[in-house]
Amino acid sequence: MISRTAASECYVYITLPGETEFVTAGKFELTTNRQGNPVGKFVYGRSYLARDNAVPIDPLELKLSTKTYETTILKGVFGALRDASPDYWGRRVIEKYTGLAQLGEIDYLLYSPDDRAGALGFGLNQEPPAPCRTFNQTMELERLQELADLIIADEDLPGGVEAEQVEKLMGGGGTSMGGARPKAVIEDESGLWIAKLRHPEDKWNDARVEHAMLMLARECALLAAESKVVTIGEHDAVLVKRFDREKTTAGYRRGRMLSALTLLRSDENYQDREKWSYVLLVEELRRISSQPRTDAPELFRRMCFNALISNTDDHPRNHAVVAMNTDWKLSPAYDLTPSTPVSAERRDLALDCGDGGRYANVGNLLSQSARFLL
Ligand SMILES: Nc1ncnc2c1ncn2[C@@H]1O[C@H](COP(=O)(O)OP(=O)(O)OP(=O)(O)O)[C@@H](O)[C@H]1O
Ligand SMILES: [Mg+2]
Repeated sequence: MISRTAASECYVYITLPGETEFVTAGKFELTTNRQGNPVGKFVYGRSYLARDNAVPIDPLELKLSTKTYETTILKGVFGALRDASPDYWGRRVIEKYTGLAQLGEIDYLLYSPDDRAGALGFGLNQEPPAPCRTFNQTMELERLQELADLIIADEDLPGGVEAEQVEKLMGGGGTSMGGARPKAVIEDESGLWIAKLRHPEDKWNDARVEHAMLMLARECALLAAESKVVTIGEHDAVLVKRFDREKTTAGYRRGRMLSALTLLRSDENYQDREKWSYVLLVEELRRISSQPRTDAPELFRRMCFNALISNTDDHPRNHAVVAMNTDWKLSPAYDLTPSTPVSAERRDLALDCGDGGRYANVGNLLSQSARFLL
């Protein structure tokens, strides 16, 4: 039964390092203050804090403590929780699935299936649910592409007998992975992959282009997510191996994940764009990373690579840090997508890359290289 009143609180679960099942980490509450603005509150559970293997959800903003954390920015949703929330595509699927156009931030967390980026989960019960053990398989990709096409075309999802199948294939609400492109999480014997599906407005074969860029990045000695192309009917999809999951005989281990948007304490709106900067990001990365001498130069190479392939969609959700155990590291590169530059001379990255702002030329890229520990 779908409730029409937006949920105002939920429990936050986490899969601890090395484990494959959730434990309850704390409680998140979303209210409004007297001015009518959203206020988010998060508190760790006492039994969670008492565990010797407890880890913080966000080591910079939500350190392990008995205090009640409060935030009024980002619509009251702490960055670490927002990173676990579905984005444009996932939200669209949930809205389609529930038939509700306006859902609260906690609803999006609750309705989304348990395949989200990172180690967190959300629910209304203090006791966490058993881990999800069934995922879409590679052979279901054709059907997933058809469903994605229907959602893009905004047609009704098939009803009747098919509804059951839709529910199975969409895992109850699509995927909680972020991003705007149609996608699904699928499993094969090696683990979990993000299948990035075709969009009718694609200018070129996006799947092959993205795969090529990830391969090129690896050839250039960058750390990039593993990828492969699969052909579905007449179209291709790129499969990108999930770096925040590790398949074990007991189930999936999960890495915690934070986006650069969260590290920069920034939102996606226009006013916050002044915080979008590789130079600021490398400072945060050096604070959080267990291997700053490796990660800071790696971020520099990634920034230069983006300039060289004209990846101007290198926004802060396309960079992340991940902790498969207790240590945080820069994640492998993902979502490397070239654009056709407006001019051969001039192109701007999405983030400031030096003293000259977002301008992607050699002088600007080199201007702050010392901060990248070069
Ligand atoms: N290999 C991966 N392993 C784990 N998480 C990933 C991986 N690739 C992407 N993600 C997560 O999924 C999100 C969506 O993926 P991606 O950026 O590739 O999709 P997109 O729809 O192309 O995004 P955009 O809206 O930037 O175009 C990312 O922001 C990141 O949080
Ligand atoms: Mg992206």
